[in-house]
Parts: sequence; structure tokens; C-alpha cells
Amino acid sequence: MDQAQSLREYMQRFNVQQQKNHSARMITITSGKGGVGKSNFTLNFALGLQSVGKKVVVLDLDLSTANINILMGITPRYSLVDVLNQEKQIWDVLEKGMEGIEYISGGFDIQDLLKLEQNTLSFFWSQIQELQTYADFILLDTGAGISKELVDFIVASDETIMVTTPEPTSIADSYAVIKTVHQYTKQSPRFQLVVNRAQSYREAVETSRVMKNACSNFLKLNLKTLGFLMEDAHVWKSVRSQTPFFISYPNCEASKNIKQIVYSFLPDLDEPSSVSTKGIRGFFEKILSVSKSL
Ligand SMILES: Nc1ncnc2c1ncn2[C@@H]1O[C@H](COP(=O)(O)OP(=O)(O)OP(=O)(O)O)[C@@H](O)[C@H]1O
Ligand SMILES: [Mg+2]
Repeated sequence: MDQAQSLREYMQRFNVQQQKNHSARMITITSGKGGVGKSNFTLNFALGLQSVGKKVVVLDLDLSTANINILMGITPRYSLVDVLNQEKQIWDVLEKGMEGIEYISGGFDIQDLLKLEQNTLSFFWSQIQELQTYADFILLDTGAGISKELVDFIVASDETIMVTTPEPTSIADSYAVIKTVHQYTKQSPRFQLVVNRAQSYREAVETSRVMKNACSNFLKLNLKTLGFLMEDAHVWKSVRSQTPFFISYPNCEASKNIKQIVYSFLPDLDEPSSVSTKGIRGFFEKILSVSKSL
């Protein structure tokens, strides 16, 4: 990238920042079991939100299988590690993927973030906070399963989307994560459920009913279902061709499902009074306070 182009991109971002007067909402996407479709959901959901005019940044914090970039056939030049090393600014590690979707490769384990020295962390924060007025949503793609770090992320997020499949093991593991977070926070975490890979709508509805009942009966928690994604061969075809299905097959069932999920996700979020956004600053403050209190 030449200097003029780089400057133009900085100015475009600056203009976007100037037009926004709110905080980006941090949405963590997770699952109990691995391989249930989190990364595909995250990327295509981000594209869906973008298609209705929302500014989205995808933050890939799944170190073990960091693959959002692979799903777009792109090799990131930098990662958050370069920001931590103070070699790059946040705008340098913000990579443009397909359809202009922007993403940041984590490149480090979240445990490492919590061990940083104060001055490194302050610099890192000041950089992350640049995104505060830049994006409408920051989607965090995480690893599967329960770990202390994941719980911290879920607690600190504005919202968590739990992806499950109809398999009993996936349902049980999803419930276990929600239960752990619930016990840990002593307050109702904001979870929304996405059922992926359902063979039929009946199966999807049944899966969400089982989850909802378990959360309501045993945790007194009202689990909202955000939507369903059907089993659709276009999903794995798009993985193989390294082009998200929302782009390559915009009319396939999975893309239609993503559109429905976007519409069910946005209305209450557009109501400023219905949510108390923690935003990015709140997110990292919370992460640190949680980790220090342990
Ligand atoms: N709705 C779907 N229909 C058909 N296949 C699907 C669907 N969703 C996911 N898959 C298949 O599941 C595979 C795993 O998806 P993905 O990588 O998004 O899961 P993940 O939860 O992010 O995995 P990990 O826990 O390893 O990060 C995809 O490569 C795809 O082949
Ligand atoms: Mg993944």
C-alpha cells in the first residue's frame, strides 16, 4: 500500500468515526462444543449486518483454530501481537477482507493479554479504543469450551451469541457454558441462542425449546433464541472455495437464515434505551477487574 492510499484509508476511517456518536457493541460468539459453525456464523453474520449498513469489525480470538481469514482466503499481514509490541497501530492490523469486511487477527492467547505490563496494556487499550466510535459492532469469534478467559470475555461483553447444533452433546456443552457463566457472575448474562445445522425447522425449534427450558427451569434464566441456520451444502462448498456463502450464494437457505437473524438481532439494539452498552472501554475495564478479583 502506498502512502497516499494509506492516508486516504485513514481519512475515510476518520470520517466514519466523526459520524458516529455511540460506542461499538461487543458481541462474543461462542459454543460449548467445537466445530459447530461459530466462525462461519460470525463471518456471514458480519456480512449480513454490513449489508444493512452496519459497520462491523470481526476480531478473531480463537488462537487454536484462527480461521476467519482462511474462510475468506486471506492471509493477515499483522495481528494484535504487532500492536502489543508497539510496532503497529490498530489501523494497521485492521485487515480488509471480502466486501470490505474488516477483521483483526488476534494472534495471541487472551491469557497473555491479562499478563501484560501496565504500560503495554495502556497502549493496547488506547489503540483498541480507537474502534469505539468507528464500528457499530465488534464480533469476537472465540474458541469452544469453557475456560476462565472465555468466561471473562462473556461477562465483559454486551452480549453473547451461543451457537449450538441439535446434537445432544452440543446442547449439553452449550448449557454447561451458560450455567458456568451464570454461577460465576451472579447476574443474568445476556445470551442469545443460534441453532446451526438443523435438518428441519421442527428440529431447530425443538433444540431451542430444550435449551430454553433447561435455562429457565434450572437457572431461572430467560434464553432468547436469535435464530436458526439449516444444514446447507452451500456452507461447506463456500468453505472449500474460501468465499463466505453470504457472498457466493446470497440466495441459499443459509444466507436467507442469516438475513432473518440480522433482522431479529437489530430491532432491540436500535432502541437506545433498551440496552446498556458497555462498549469497548467497558469491555476491557471489565475484563481487567474480573481477572484482578480472582
Ligand atoms: N449450516 C451448515 N451447513 C452445513 N455445514 C456446516 C454448517 N455450519 C457449519 N458447517 C460445517 O462445519 C464446519 C465447521 O464450521 P466452523 O469452522 O465455522 O466451526 P467452529 O465452531 O468455528 O469450529 P472451531 O470450534 O474449530 O473454531 C464448516 O467447515 C462446515 O463444513
Ligand atoms: Mg472457529
